[in-house]
Amino acid sequence: MCGIVGYVGRRPCRDLLVAGLEKLEYRGYDSAGIAVLEGDRVETVRAVGNLANLRSAVEERVGEGGVAVADPPATTGIAHTRWATHGRVTEENAHPHSDCSGRIQIALNGIVENHHDLRPRLEAEGHTFSSETDAEIVAHLIELHYDGDLTAAVRATAADLRGHYAFVAMHADEPELLVGARKECPLIVGLGDDESFLASAIPAFMAETRRTMFVEEGEIVTIDPSGATITDGDGTPIERDTEEVTWNEDAAEKGGYDTFMLKEIHEQPEAVAETVGDRVTPEGTIDLSDVELSDEYLCEISRIVIVACGTSYHAGLIGRYAIEEWARVPVEMDVASEYRYRNPVVGPSDLVIGVSQSGETADTLAAMRLAREAGAKVLAVTNVMGSQATRDSDAVLYTRAGPEISVASTKTFVSQAAAMYLLGLRIAQLRETLSAERVAELANELRGMPDRIAETLARVEEPVAEIAKRHYKQGFFLYLGRHIGLPICLEGALKLKEISYIPTDAYAAGEMKHGPIALLDESTPAICVATDSPVLDKVLSNIEECRVRGADVVAVATEGNEAVAKVSEETIFIPRTDWILQPILAILPLQLFAYCIARLNDLNVDQPRNLAKTVTVE
Ligand code: AGP
Repeated sequence: MCGIVGYVGRRPCRDLLVAGLEKLEYRGYDSAGIAVLEGDRVETVRAVGNLANLRSAVEERVGEGGVAVADPPATTGIAHTRWATHGRVTEENAHPHSDCSGRIQIALNGIVENHHDLRPRLEAEGHTFSSETDAEIVAHLIELHYDGDLTAAVRATAADLRGHYAFVAMHADEPELLVGARKECPLIVGLGDDESFLASAIPAFMAETRRTMFVEEGEIVTIDPSGATITDGDGTPIERDTEEVTWNEDAAEKGGYDTFMLKEIHEQPEAVAETVGDRVTPEGTIDLSDVELSDEYLCEISRIVIVACGTSYHAGLIGRYAIEEWARVPVEMDVASEYRYRNPVVGPSDLVIGVSQSGETADTLAAMRLAREAGAKVLAVTNVMGSQATRDSDAVLYTRAGPEISVASTKTFVSQAAAMYLLGLRIAQLRETLSAERVAELANELRGMPDRIAETLARVEEPVAEIAKRHYKQGFFLYLGRHIGLPICLEGALKLKEISYIPTDAYAAGEMKHGPIALLDESTPAICVATDSPVLDKVLSNIEECRVRGADVVAVATEGNEAVAKVSEETIFIPRTDWILQPILAILPLQLFAYCIARLNDLNVDQPRNLAKTVTVE
């Protein structure tokens, strides 16, 4: 998830663009760049790190007599702030990227999934690449298609691309316009007086204009100082109304949502789309070539150990169920703060996986180092390129959720679960513990998950808010789940604890009769994860055990499974998928439930008490 902003108008654009990037920094901040056009000269300045580094790089360039960035006169330009997914955090990999001539510049947000196919083709045609990114391909494709009409070249380029992205292009031969294209990633026009903006999100230009135009799926947009023209994939013009944005600055940063947590809950489709992205091939196989673990190695490991903390531990737990179920490799699971001090038995035949969204959690890093010192190979599953976890490991499997601001993790959890599924399927594919047809079936379901997530959020948001209204004054909640439902009940309980401060207990439902059942009475709300699974019958009888003691059962179930509704006070249905993939959907109503209860108790969900986003202390 990156941020793009483009400007074409009468005003010097350099500072306008950098100011726009500052409003988009929540989308990515590991490197940034700007390319501006003066006459037919293009000047590009890029820098690693946050925007302050870009500002000083621009000043430096002005000092060196950089014409186009000099003030005034450049009035056309594009800029980008990056959250790396393909290619390390370097200046060469920062956007904007150019074609071989340097006259075409592009900035892209998202992923070009067929970059593995397109790059060798372009290299065979004599194109030279200067970065490791998938995005640079777009600049060379535009160069390939360009015949004096940038809009046509962008349209032809978009037809070659597979993935989910939005990009903006600029050509020195056409200094008075910018052209953009989108597929699944956001792109918005800002219309000013004799000037126009193109950006990934409204905050980028909201200080300058509130008149917007939304670019829809598969459309091409051309802006110049006088306005915007939208066409479809065949070049047919499309009429589009403008809309006036009424948000205040704070709401703008949250994309119009009240809080970062709610914004990030609604970013989960995009987070999983990016994380799965080019790792499921059109043939339905799993491609983890971006993870430096050889096929031979993945075939020979005798045991996997997963270490993590908090929400990441729960994502790891989903990984255990999936990897054992699909790849038949034994998986041991432990909280890192225990693992690092219990003198664990670990060695060269083990693969140890450290799951950490920040990549900076001290306990998880220490557990990873311990395992590495004992000769085990270590894989980091992290969301942050360049984080410590990437240095304390032999290989990295990146989730691609973009920056997560709210302390309570949501989109990084579902991205971690998706990453675990990808790894489980890859090992099963290599070891042939699943047939190629079965791998393809599950891989295609995983690729369809972003739509399932969007569907679930749209379907459950209101009913969950109603259920929360009936429970927000409760003093205790019991969460129950079994098998693949257990990590979800643990995560649901953690979300409620950390943002509403209400005590909860989360238990493997089969354990209830061994003690926690004593907690149940007429007032106890029992939140039960009862999605389809090999043990659903058992879960149904556990729900009965709760009900006969008067507990108020709220269940999450797979659509069409009325048996659960018959034994629960309230049932939240989620779309049907393969049972083992249900956790990615089942957590959504529980995230929203915790969120609503915290909001009804008027609590600050983005900055809960006593908690930090990254726990770097021992
Ligand atoms: C989850 O909402 C919390 N922020 C916390 O439990 C978190 O998951 C834990 O601190 C681990 O963080 P990490 O994924 O960055 O390692």
